[in-house]
Amino acid sequence: MVGDGRPSWAIRRIELSLKGKSLIEPLNFTVAEMDELFQVAEGIIAAPREYIEVCKGYLLATLFYEPSTRTRFSFEAAMLRLGGQVIGFSEPGSSSVSKGESIADTIRTIECYADIAAMRHPKEGAVTVAANSASIPVINAGDGGHHHPTQTLTDLLTIKLKKGSINNITIGLCGDLKFGRTVHSLITALLRYQGIRFVLISPEELRLPGFVREELKSKAADSIETQNLTEVMPNLDILYMTRVQKERFFNEEDYVKLKDRYILDGAKLATAKPDLMIMHPLPRDNEISVEVDRDPRAMYFPQAKNGMYIRMALIMALLGVSK
Ligand code: NCD
Repeated sequence: MVGDGRPSWAIRRIELSLKGKSLIEPLNFTVAEMDELFQVAEGIIAAPREYIEVCKGYLLATLFYEPSTRTRFSFEAAMLRLGGQVIGFSEPGSSSVSKGESIADTIRTIECYADIAAMRHPKEGAVTVAANSASIPVINAGDGGHHHPTQTLTDLLTIKLKKGSINNITIGLCGDLKFGRTVHSLITALLRYQGIRFVLISPEELRLPGFVREELKSKAADSIETQNLTEVMPNLDILYMTRVQKERFFNEEDYVKLKDRYILDGAKLATAKPDLMIMHPLPRDNEISVEVDRDPRAMYFPQAKNGMYIRMALIMALLGVSK
């Protein structure tokens, strides 16, 4: 048996199935593999000090071609809390990228030094190119307006911890559904669970893109689209707010027109369920008023903390190490 009461074969199984893999999109892992990651994360949450040496001697490279606070720090904190070490850049201008080096060459060099890499890039598909050229596991830490699978692991763990299960929920996704990669990955992942009702709340200009719309259609998902948050509020078990993704707009005027369309405040929550979960991948701009932070239903800071724990579990699984 291992410390959290699970038989050691359960740990072995995840080591064997995920060791050496890369994570580019949520569907790269099966539901069972994700469940096992959640179990490992729960074990870490219960006794974090038991894990302080499991990645001793391993090195994580964080290659961030786009700004980040939470994701990069949570990867780095995760590796450091596992006893491993971290190298990387957060400004491509300070690396050889600024000399014109290709992504393939960068990752082939990085793998000479590091055992695992997390990469964020403004271009959709760039992390796939890196993973295909690499012999070490590469984790997509967000590629343009495409996917953000580790945020999805974070979100699913947060839902599971709070609700006990990821099935049978009505989830409202509100804001920038077009460019919000966290929304795309979360919907893709939730489509594999039972009884999920999607309420898609956005201005016309920021509706879900075709590739996610197609997935909803092909799975005959229960989904509705609306522009009116207030109207749907009483039905929601989860409200997932998102920031309008300024950096993906071609002109400032369009952004300014849309940025404050939804601002969640105490008054809007008056009709919400008492056990609503208010989630947000952060950073927030103006879309959740700070007064909501005092509401016990606000889950976005605990969500950020869960992000570190699930990344600890993920790093362990991809490196094939256990306690
Ligand atoms: C998100 C992202 O980078 O896509 N942030 C994050 O990773 N927690 C959301 C956002 O930037 O709005």
